[in-house]
Amino acid sequence: MTDRRILLVIGGGIAAYKSLLLIRLLAKAGVRARAILTKAGAEFVTPLSVGSLTEDKVYADLFSLTDEAEMGHIELSRSADLVVVAPATADLMAKAANGIANDLASTTLLATDKPVMMAPAMNVRMWLHPATQRNYHRLLADGVHFVGPDDGAMACGEFGPGRMAEPEDICAEILKSYDARAIGQPLTGRRVLVTAGPTLEALDPVRFISNRSSGKQGFAIAEALARLGAHVRLVSGPVALADPFGVETVRVESAREMLAACEAGLPADAAVCVAAVADWRPEASAVRKIKKGADGPPPIALTENPDILAALSKAGKKRPRLVVGFAAETNDVEAHAKSKLARKGCDWIVANDVSGDVMGGDANEVMIVRASGVERWPHMAKSAVAGRLAAEIATALGH
Ligand code: CTP
Repeated sequence: MTDRRILLVIGGGIAAYKSLLLIRLLAKAGVRARAILTKAGAEFVTPLSVGSLTEDKVYADLFSLTDEAEMGHIELSRSADLVVVAPATADLMAKAANGIANDLASTTLLATDKPVMMAPAMNVRMWLHPATQRNYHRLLADGVHFVGPDDGAMACGEFGPGRMAEPEDICAEILKSYDARAIGQPLTGRRVLVTAGPTLEALDPVRFISNRSSGKQGFAIAEALARLGAHVRLVSGPVALADPFGVETVRVESAREMLAACEAGLPADAAVCVAAVADWRPEASAVRKIKKGADGPPPIALTENPDILAALSKAGKKRPRLVVGFAAETNDVEAHAKSKLARKGCDWIVANDVSGDVMGGDANEVMIVRASGVERWPHMAKSAVAGRLAAEIATALGH
């Protein structure tokens, strides 16, 4: 346990005091932290308090000859399993997003070959500013993992997103990233596509047709596959869930956008279609809000959406070797699942009865329907279904 070490970059924000607690929580969990304290960070917490908790030297100045003699910035950036920036200020995010390297923290972020996790902390207006949002999306695309920011009251008296995630939550994410690496890696080098959540089909700029899918099962499957080493592209409709760690997450709205994002993810070794894709969409989406008129409610003509599972199953040369679909049924689950398997042309159907509280809930009871037969799994947490399914996918792909 004690050889687990992270590099913690403490930026200049009022939330810096929370990083002290983070260091203690990590130490309790057997993860040592080495700290870089930025100049602004040192206005909020002292090198002495940080160093007492890390039981190590605190690195601060890029041009310090003694620092460079002990551990150069390149070495520093590679001496840890993970680089965690907490608090990640707007300034640190901007530098990292643009490759600016003019102090120890930013130089280290540019030089590192290790995964980077950021816990943003700033005033709500700064967080929502287009420049910060641009930097945030750029960093996401660069593979940076974000924890928070949380919503709530801020030290500056305002309210909204921008509060640094609680140290307990940051610590949990760090430990999760260790779990991800510790578990065996039977899917290393494999690419898997996962769809999740509902789709949203616009009627006009303010109204839409959708469904109650929470995305929990699909997100859990994506995370479980990534834990087994797969490169996972998760294409999700609108859900209130954070991007799973180590997963390439693509957010879409409509079924047609979901199909396009899936096709752009091919070739893949496997595809798991968990999304509750809306079967129909309004034939036309009005450009302006539909107004109430004297003629009563407007008729809504629907047209069929593309079937993503069927399209992937019939993708010819690009067809993933294993295509898994889900079947959400309220009656005759097995019979419907079998006919879906044949109709869609996929290899397995994971079928569940959604007449109870499965949609939005945390547990599920499924059966796996294959051409070779039906396998019933007991009632279990969605995360457990995800783990077992990921393991079966790994076996099917030849490990
Ligand atoms: N699916 C899809 N694209 C669609 C509809 C469904 O990819 N347009 C996928 C789902 O992700 C799931 C499977 O097909 O893996 C079955 O979805 P389900 O809604 O249960 O089936 P439907 O095709 O809607 O069939 P039915 O209306 O008969 O239940």
